[in-house]
Amino acid sequence: MRMFQKYIDGQYGRPSGLVGRWIGGKMAAQHQPENLWTVNLLDAQPRDWILEVGFGPGFAVQELARRVPAGRIAGVDFSKAMLHTARRRNAAAIRQGRVDLRESDAARLPFEDAMFDKAFSIHSIYFWPDPLAALREIRRVLKPGGLLALTILPKEKWGANSDGTWGTPECRPYSGGDLIRLMAEAGFGDFAVRADPQPQFAANFTVMGYAAA
Ligand SMILES: C[S@@+](CC[C@H](N)C(=O)[O-])C[C@H]1O[C@@H](n2cnc3c(N)ncnc32)[C@H](O)[C@@H]1O
Repeated sequence: MRMFQKYIDGQYGRPSGLVGRWIGGKMAAQHQPENLWTVNLLDAQPRDWILEVGFGPGFAVQELARRVPAGRIAGVDFSKAMLHTARRRNAAAIRQGRVDLRESDAARLPFEDAMFDKAFSIHSIYFWPDPLAALREIRRVLKPGGLLALTILPKEKWGANSDGTWGTPECRPYSGGDLIRLMAEAGFGDFAVRADPQPQFAANFTVMGYAAA
């Protein structure tokens, strides 16, 4: 059972091959509520430059591209399978130069300093080996005052393992407080937590913070 869980965590954490593409298809449907929730929280403006870290099948990118006709939606994901899927989903906007999706690690973003107005990530931070390094990178590419929105299923909703631990070494859950502490250390402030009160949408849970000037 432990081996199977490790395999599934691995596929969610970095989808690969045919199974990865199949999981990516499932993810787009499964995560649609929290993707739409997060996109709405971003309050995208027509000229915004927005970055997604860990875009998976690229559903949120597609939604944002519809709402940002004169800006740019960029994204990174370190899974080749997800890059392929998300590029296919967003092919028209990529051809128009409005969407730019790259294969890259969250901790090494291939963008210049202060390029983006907003950044976000959904169900991805659990898999980042060094979340603080990645958050500092996101802070670097955000303009001063830029918004970061992190959407997660909070740790309290995961349920502990039988030995009282949480998650696995490959997939670590966080509470809202954990994210605020990490974001503060990475140079963010003015935090707000948005949580959907409907129990069936427990993953509509977002910590928002602003890059210090
Ligand atoms: C569970 S999926 C979520 C995908 C999408 N955000 C969604 O809501 O459906 C996690 C994604 O984060 C990506 N990811 C995990 N760790 C990463 C890292 N260190 N750098 C870049 N992408 C990462 C994975 O490849 C995967 O596509």
